Amino acid sequence: MCGIVGYLGKGIAQDSLIDGLRRLEYRGYDSAGVAFHEGNAFSMTRETGRVKNLANLVKRKSSKSSLGIAHTRWATHGSVTVSNTHPHVSHDGKFVMVHNGVIENFGTFKRFLTNKGIKFSSETDSEVLCNLIAYHYSELPDGDDRFVDAIRQALPKCRGAYGVAVLCLDYPDTMIGARRGSPLVVGLGDDANFIASDASAFVGRAKEAVFLNDGELAILNGSDFRITNLEGQEAQAVALPVDQISEEVELGDFDSYMEKEIYEQPTALKNTLRGRFGDDGTTSKLGGLEGHDEVLRDLDRIIFVACGTARHACMVGEYLIERLARVPVEVEHASEFRYRNSPKAGKSLVIAVSQSGETLDTLEAVRESKTKGLLTLGITNVVGSSLARETDGGVYQRVGPEIGVASTKAFSSQVCLCAMLGLALGRMRDLSPMDGQSIVEALNQLPGLVAQVLQQGEQIRELAIKYSKAEHLLFLGRQSLYPVALEGALKLKEISYAHAEGYPAAELKHGPIALINPECPSVFIVEGSDLSAKTIANMQEVKARNGPVLAIAPHSVEIPEEAADDVFLLPDSHEVVRPILANLPLQLFAYHFARLRGLDVDKPRNLAKSVTVE
Ligand code: M6R
Repeated sequence: MCGIVGYLGKGIAQDSLIDGLRRLEYRGYDSAGVAFHEGNAFSMTRETGRVKNLANLVKRKSSKSSLGIAHTRWATHGSVTVSNTHPHVSHDGKFVMVHNGVIENFGTFKRFLTNKGIKFSSETDSEVLCNLIAYHYSELPDGDDRFVDAIRQALPKCRGAYGVAVLCLDYPDTMIGARRGSPLVVGLGDDANFIASDASAFVGRAKEAVFLNDGELAILNGSDFRITNLEGQEAQAVALPVDQISEEVELGDFDSYMEKEIYEQPTALKNTLRGRFGDDGTTSKLGGLEGHDEVLRDLDRIIFVACGTARHACMVGEYLIERLARVPVEVEHASEFRYRNSPKAGKSLVIAVSQSGETLDTLEAVRESKTKGLLTLGITNVVGSSLARETDGGVYQRVGPEIGVASTKAFSSQVCLCAMLGLALGRMRDLSPMDGQSIVEALNQLPGLVAQVLQQGEQIRELAIKYSKAEHLLFLGRQSLYPVALEGALKLKEISYAHAEGYPAAELKHGPIALINPECPSVFIVEGSDLSAKTIANMQEVKARNGPVLAIAPHSVEIPEEAADDVFLLPDSHEVVRPILANLPLQLFAYHFARLRGLDVDKPRNLAKSVTVE
């Protein structure tokens, strides 16, 4: 949520900052702004809308400054206006700041500062924080540490979350970043150093990245940098190479990241699976779980915490793990889990799943679980993310950066990892070696089957054309395909703004069937099990009420002509991989449906890729 990038170096800051903002735009795209230290004042340029609007203005001004900060915003406090756009400058012009997160008690500071005669020009909590820092600065004696001390005095007073980058007019060679709850990373290059909300902002410009922990400050001074805590004690800086993430963030020949990421899935899944099976070919071997064997063998309950698409992946995981390992599984909305006093039953394991590893609701659920003394594991795609660092162990998805706001390849790999976890837990219990072997084989065949389904993309485009006038759609499936129905509906509504709902197929007759009419298509995801006859009966109920039916079904299931208007066939497959395969046509359906409406699928309205506020 919101992107921050700051540059301090020997060159001109402008191009690096605009380039960084473009790469971070997926985090928020309501408005964008930049501020440069110009010696005796800050020059600011801010504009509503996309980064390209800002870039045109910045190019015309052509600053030569080598110190600047920039921001792309997803609005929280205050509407989308130029005055609410970051950076924010303090009333005395001494400080300029960009901020991610929410300062919950900003009202108290605003009243305090207003009483001191300070006037505000925006509705944001961020402008208040900038002025709070300026206030503390004004109270401190001159000295080398006055800038950092002002920040150290202001931040501990704040409740809520922040990732900030701050400049002070009196320190033309210094940039300070700080985080609590919102991610922040320092980029170290030959000619410049950076502060950013994620490392993609300085790909190609910095060689190493140092991720800040909550409560830490990064003080960049000339070509030096150090990390301290808010009390001023030095903290350890662990530098990781940046080059792994380089070209993966380029769009290449694709029109959108969403399309690119859908078609990357065969490779992404190969990476998720690579080297993760035991030598005897009957189980999976997840490095991040090593050392926890005893707990895993003895579990009474798994609680998944996640949001959005990641939660749907966990719901598929619930079916798979219960089936393979016979361990009770619960799936919680991370945002609800945190405030719910869930009883501590037996030996529970909490697994948090988050593509970004920065979703605040999910992180808070992990923190709450740790307070209760529960073992926490993470499934995340982002190396070095807060989730990776705060859990007791975990597994990386390895699917490369996911930039499209609509999550696609991350879902597939999360489900794949849930299946692998179910397999490992099953083999520790009573899953036979033969069953284990057939699951290993099914998982190894998955990338090839995914490629096969994606080759039928044109058929899905034609179906999207046929149904693209619909404003209301239902998605229906049973068992592990019920969460796939939820995911299909989420994908469609978030990028096309059509209204879509997912239900267990049998629930249809308990209410949603009232919505059925010739203008409301139903998308049925048919399993390849004995249950398919029941789902087909539900399809017939819709057809009997003149509702259009699109069925997604495995090859071997015969769909009677009168039960569906259209059928999209999937290859026959093992049940553990079926949810991943069945979801692919729904991703493509949503993608084409939205494109046919002329919408930007990578930047759907009101959304942001990573939600770092509650
Ligand atoms: O980064 P996370 O996996 O924690 O993100 C969770 C959700 O915000 C995310 O899946 C969201 O629902 C996507 N927009 C869905 O496409």
